[in-house]
Amino acid sequence: MKEVMRVVNKNFYISTAIAYSSQSPHIGNVYEIILADAIARFKRLDGHNVYFQTGTDEHGQKIENKAKIKGIKPKEYVDEVSTLIRTIYDSIDISYDNFVRTTDVFHEESVQAIFNKLLENDDIYLGKYQGYYSISEEAFVFEKDLVDGKCPGGDIPIWTEEETYFFRLSKYQDRLIDYINKNPLFIQPESRKNEMLNNFLKDKLPDLSVSRSSFKWGVPILNSDHVIYVWIDALSNYITGLGYNPNLPLNKKFKDFWPADVHLVGKDIVRFHTIYWPIILMALGLELPKQVFGHPWILFNKEKMSKSTGNVKYTDELVKLFGVDVVRYYCLHDIPFAQDGNLTYELIVERNNSDLSNTLGNLVNRTIGMVNKYQGGTLYKVLLPELSPINLSEEAIQLLPKIRSHFDKLNVSLALDEIVNFARDCNKYIDLNAPWTLYKETNTERLKHVLYTLIESIRFIGILLQPFIPSSSLKILDAIKVSNTSFESLSTFGLIEGVKLDIGHAIFERFDLEKKIKEIEENV
Ligand code: MSP
Repeated sequence: MKEVMRVVNKNFYISTAIAYSSQSPHIGNVYEIILADAIARFKRLDGHNVYFQTGTDEHGQKIENKAKIKGIKPKEYVDEVSTLIRTIYDSIDISYDNFVRTTDVFHEESVQAIFNKLLENDDIYLGKYQGYYSISEEAFVFEKDLVDGKCPGGDIPIWTEEETYFFRLSKYQDRLIDYINKNPLFIQPESRKNEMLNNFLKDKLPDLSVSRSSFKWGVPILNSDHVIYVWIDALSNYITGLGYNPNLPLNKKFKDFWPADVHLVGKDIVRFHTIYWPIILMALGLELPKQVFGHPWILFNKEKMSKSTGNVKYTDELVKLFGVDVVRYYCLHDIPFAQDGNLTYELIVERNNSDLSNTLGNLVNRTIGMVNKYQGGTLYKVLLPELSPINLSEEAIQLLPKIRSHFDKLNVSLALDEIVNFARDCNKYIDLNAPWTLYKETNTERLKHVLYTLIESIRFIGILLQPFIPSSSLKILDAIKVSNTSFESLSTFGLIEGVKLDIGHAIFERFDLEKKIKEIEENV
């Protein structure tokens, strides 16, 4: 028998971007959390000691303005939004180990200490800024980047002259370029790495303004009326969440999990994570993360989701229409590795019907139905030499190693494909072996073998689906009375003992496209 489990008990740290607490996150923001969750769950089942961190980014002028409009304090505002975000994550089964808020006292104190350390090292100095500033992007913008007086994002910037602290980024530029070149997996996918090297790191990095005095809602800089630039504050969450503070000795959690294995972020913020963040870490004398993975975006009907177009899709709305696991499945299966993925109601219905209902659901119900019909609900443990051209026991044993290699490249949709394709083979196996004929011909031993092989294959499917659709996978395993859900149990094909099965229940619903679209038009 092949070695299926890797003998490891390695620590694995995965993080997501922390969501802005200016508004409810849409399905695009939440996609990233679902992706990280699938990876975290897979790694845990595969013997790693996982630390999965997410959280909320709660400072900045935008939030200060929104709170003012609502007539409440910024802290009250972010308390509401952060709670909402956490409720959404909980509702879609996100198994984070730590949820950092940038208004947490420990985080704020650490960020202040980080800033002071950089100041003491002369990485940061007090200077004067003159130029354009975009409120919506919370960044200074170069005149050369303006089109008709507007920022690339469409915002009209304002002219500002103010004292500000600057970070000497270029001091670390050569070291960073060297690191990127020597660690080909640091920036993934490859296209993002080239973008960083060829666009942003080609010329000398200008000093970065890292403080603001035009608003108050941020971490204050000691002995000054400035607050710390929101990106230094936000990026630091990856280490403050582990208990890092430059004034304190490094603790066990930090030593165990830093450097992070993967920072999962959207393609728009790869630059912050692969230029500013590594430079901050170098200045602090800390190791750099092993990988920053810039995932693509979700488009709705092939268009960018935006409030002005009115096509923003919220997770709770989609979950209400389709259910948690359908939304998770869609996000994990249909958003490709390197290019933007498209979401439409029709595509969700199609994917649900073809993969979840027709392939997986049918397989489970048909098989349990046949065990009931031909064997009075009793499963007999009989494995004979395979006569069929489809050898499910061999395929099943190879599944985990194949899936693991896709996860190693964070290619989650290919991992999911392996399972669904295996389920398709199981359905073909039923047609090829025609249990109904074996029953008529009283070929009892072969019938027992075929049904046992199918239930064992379903066990593999149920166990392997746990990272993707945790609650449905448990329903599948419950239906075939499997309680050992570990990956270790996948090293043997033939683990289930003879057992009495109940009558199957539909695990996945089939949607009628027309009815569903009508329901959506009436309710959304
Ligand atoms: N607060 C910053 C991140 C700071 S991390 C130190 C931020 N927040 S965000 O709420 O705007 O975005 C959260 C994540 O969602 C980001 O990784 C962003 O790229 C991602 N996405 C935003 N729109 C998206 C889609 N339409 N599709 C997929 N991901 C999207 O940026």
